Amino acid sequence: MENETLTVVDNRTGREYSLPIVDGAIRAPDLRQIAGPDGEGLVSFDPAYLNTASCRSAITYIDGDAGILRYRGYPIEQVAEQAGFLETAYLILEGELPTEDELQRWTDDVRRHTYVHTNIEEFMAGFRYDAHPMGMLLGAVGALSTFYPDAKHISDPENRYLQRVRLIAKLPTIAAFIFRHNRGLPYVLPRNDLGYIGNYVNMTFEIGGRHEPNPVLQRALEILFILHADHEQNCSTSAVRGVGSSHVDPFSAVSAGIAALYGPLHGGANEAVLNMLDVIGDVKNVPAFVEAVKDGSAGTRLMGFGHRVYKSYDPRATLIKQVADSVFAETGVDPKLKIALELERIALEDDYFVSRKLYPNVDFYSGLIYKAMGYPADYFTVLFALGRLPGWIAQWEEMLNDPEQKIARPRQLYTGSAERPYVPLDRR
Ligand code: CMC
Repeated sequence: MENETLTVVDNRTGREYSLPIVDGAIRAPDLRQIAGPDGEGLVSFDPAYLNTASCRSAITYIDGDAGILRYRGYPIEQVAEQAGFLETAYLILEGELPTEDELQRWTDDVRRHTYVHTNIEEFMAGFRYDAHPMGMLLGAVGALSTFYPDAKHISDPENRYLQRVRLIAKLPTIAAFIFRHNRGLPYVLPRNDLGYIGNYVNMTFEIGGRHEPNPVLQRALEILFILHADHEQNCSTSAVRGVGSSHVDPFSAVSAGIAALYGPLHGGANEAVLNMLDVIGDVKNVPAFVEAVKDGSAGTRLMGFGHRVYKSYDPRATLIKQVADSVFAETGVDPKLKIALELERIALEDDYFVSRKLYPNVDFYSGLIYKAMGYPADYFTVLFALGRLPGWIAQWEEMLNDPEQKIARPRQLYTGSAERPYVPLDRR
């Protein structure tokens, strides 16, 4: 609606201010006309962005109360069921589903860039044998910026396209190298006669030149990647946007996203869920564990539960449960699934979780599936990163193309000392 305003009355002065409401939001800079305590304009205070829209975005829509997630308007259920991962990446990056020709060209472009410079192999060999896979991914993607110095030409759309292709093509290669490094296995080079997922799985699991692909597990992995492909302004995407707003190259911006994803409150939750199920150990211990979470004595939250935006069941978790059925039919059921199901059952009935609207999120069941596929717990978040990559790149490009976007530079509420004279060392 045009000319919508919010009237604010300053009780200190009796003055009235009319703040325009545009697209359902007031603009924090409009508060500056109201006097703040130090003579400067009033600022808004929102350290965790609880109620602050940091950008405009046309990529992903979430209705957290209704449990709705859409990529470029398409319901996640339909995309996950019908699309491939590169097709989903194209949709997220370009805004439209590709035609057959467009998909072919995009797939060929990605296929042509799957190799990494051999110095990257040497770089990776420098990590300790037990280096955490996310630390390695973070380092290796940051290092890519030194191999592609042309990537700093971020205002050139053709150049941006090249870096987009490089990132999406090379991350699976690096991720597979990481998997093998941790096992002391020689790296397997990309096979460009295979599809995106097939090539990645082959580079990961091939032994002695052989790997028997399992189409059910490969499709399950592809669906998991699709379910993770974007999730609007989450912590890692905000990191990519924030760091990218300094106009650094996309490899550095994406490595900031990987760093954010590493944390247990974000992508690292999938690893933390498995560790938590290990600690619980048996279905009979679930009630006591839930009580310990509630009274704080467990020293942890219920990992894989809760979400800043979803206040009902995470639609990705619903789909992941279906993927789990198809995977376990191939691999056999992980005994920990029983513990997870019991945790979910109890939590969904318990007033603590119900009243706080804490439901299973995307990370609750994904780890059990990754484990059944043969990935170790500390590697799960790498798989999340492979899925999230198109979203990070699309959000980075959207940020660069937004004429309103300046360098992200928040204000602060200063809580330190007032001015005081310097005290020389011999008088302290
Ligand atoms: N277990 C127990 N209590 C919880 C949990 C949980 N998993 N999550 C939130 N709470 C409680 C929290 O203690 C608080 O209670 P109170 O009002 O009594 O202080 C209330 O619920 C609200 O929590 P909050 O910290 O204000 O919520 P938030 O929106 O800041 O945090 C979250 C969201 C995802 C970080 C949080 O729910 C959490 O830590 N979950 C566990 C970690 C996890 O599974 N992360 C994955 C998130 S989804 C995918 C992704 O982003 O990677």
